[in-house]
Amino acid sequence: MDTSPTDHRIRNVVVLGGGTAGWMTASYVAKAFQGTVNVTVLEAPAVPRIGVGEATVPNLHKAFFSFLGIEEDEWMRECNASFKMAVKFVNWRTEGEGEPVSRTHRGRPDHFYHTFGILPAHDQLPLSHYWFADRAAGRTDEQFDYACYREPAAMDAKLAPRDRDGNRWTNYAWHFDAQLVADFLCRFSVKSLGVTHVQDRFTEAVRDERGFVTALKTESGRVLEGDLFVDCSGFRGLLINQTMREPFLDMSDYLLCDSAVAAAVPHDDEAEGIEPYTSAIAMKSGWTWKIPMLGRFGSGYVFSSRFTDRDTASEDFCRLWGLDPDNTALNQISFRVGRNRRAWVKNVVSVGLASCFLEPLESTGIYFIYAAIFQLVKHFPDKRFDPVLAKRFNAEIETMFDDSRDFIQAHFKFAPRNDTPFWRENKNLVLDAGMQEKVDMYRAGMPVNMPVADESTYYGNFEAEFRNYWTNGSFYCIFSGLDLVPDHVYPTQALRPDAAAGAREVFAGIAAERDRLLETLPTAYEYLRGLHGK
Ligand code: FDA
Repeated sequence: MDTSPTDHRIRNVVVLGGGTAGWMTASYVAKAFQGTVNVTVLEAPAVPRIGVGEATVPNLHKAFFSFLGIEEDEWMRECNASFKMAVKFVNWRTEGEGEPVSRTHRGRPDHFYHTFGILPAHDQLPLSHYWFADRAAGRTDEQFDYACYREPAAMDAKLAPRDRDGNRWTNYAWHFDAQLVADFLCRFSVKSLGVTHVQDRFTEAVRDERGFVTALKTESGRVLEGDLFVDCSGFRGLLINQTMREPFLDMSDYLLCDSAVAAAVPHDDEAEGIEPYTSAIAMKSGWTWKIPMLGRFGSGYVFSSRFTDRDTASEDFCRLWGLDPDNTALNQISFRVGRNRRAWVKNVVSVGLASCFLEPLESTGIYFIYAAIFQLVKHFPDKRFDPVLAKRFNAEIETMFDDSRDFIQAHFKFAPRNDTPFWRENKNLVLDAGMQEKVDMYRAGMPVNMPVADESTYYGNFEAEFRNYWTNGSFYCIFSGLDLVPDHVYPTQALRPDAAAGAREVFAGIAAERDRLLETLPTAYEYLRGLHGK
């Protein structure tokens, strides 16, 4: 045991980069260690932020904003936020050009929702299993999401996830303007948490004989000394990759998309309403996100440069929304897919795009940021930098990333469409052993990744959620949505006919509640107008 009287505490944390990752890190660390740790953010105003990153997942408020002590409505107003109750997958089964409207598939619209929250269960078995037993026996032809959740019908009707009194009736996440989030957190961190904001360009890192960084030098001659450095410099990875020479593990053999063309598209909210969900619309060589906010929606075609070029992708994207390519500001983005071999090396920790990136199909980017900061605070070192802390942190980040990578890869692999080289190549993707095992379990009729918490506690316990992120409900939403169903009913069900009868009552309760909600809820447009005072 160390009994030395020396004070080993970390006193100065320097964050390189002022994008979403930089400001989330600075505010969270400053709040966690207020009064003991000084936090400085070095941001080059001339180097633009990535500027996208608009859809999130439900734990954002509890795990991040609530930790900072900021009310949901306050940050929603500051960041022009809207509601997201699911990701809606459009035209992932039918072949053709990119179209914003669902085509017809087996007599129904070609779309399905990936909703949030925990799937209801009956007699210790999730509803997915009763739904599938009914479907296999020909007793229902309802789609999984519409049968098992109240939300799809409300989303079709563009209703709000809060009632007229402002009470939330379901789990939801948010869409927002990522630039506004970074600006808001910058103001908040400087004013309320005493974070120092240095606007200058990083040029070089000073290191000691052990290879630890001791200071960052800037273009105008500043020297920012620190004990711990957080690299939030974006895809450049200025500290982690360039200074520390930590390799970035490219995972483009898992996921084929590596580029995007994006724009803000004006929208007539009054005439068309605001969709309370993110759409993921299948395209010939990838997919397009649609993220509705007041007065506009953010959109981007995520594509594989192996299967289409930028010009064709830009034309396809503009055609999808009826945009004039010559008069639309298109944001052209290339991205790296993968993660650093180690997110934390010596006294440099990478967060955000400097650490890892997965294409935004399941909106994991911002989640990965606050999950990493949560883990950083949990594994926060002192100046002795016990390597066990970094090792454990790195293991957590690796599992977090690889788990989501594998789940997203399965979306592409099992999508039935086969009409273009891109979709055909996706069929050749090789699943990681862990994901293959989950697919095997699913096919054998077993529940996959059963949640370790119930509906009331899942989003209240970040630690539990972090370890059990894609639960059985997610697997059923995606796999059954892509027409991949189990080979047979879970064998024990045949032995428990009473449980099936009880489950039918649960289904009836969901349908009744769905109808009640349709009658009473305000539209998302109405609600957001009131919230934003517009
Ligand atoms: P970012 O690049 O934004 O910031 C880097 C910062 O470093 C900037 O402030 C820059 O000034 C600074 N910098 C660079 N060089 C410097 C130097 N020499 N000196 C000083 N400062 C320097 N996520 C999500 O949750 N939902 C979503 O829907 C999407 N969608 C999405 C689409 C696409 C196409 C991409 C590429 C990414 C997403 N993301 C996302 C991810 C999301 O955008 C991302 O995680 C966050 O914006 C965080 O970005 P960073 O802050 O890491 O980098």
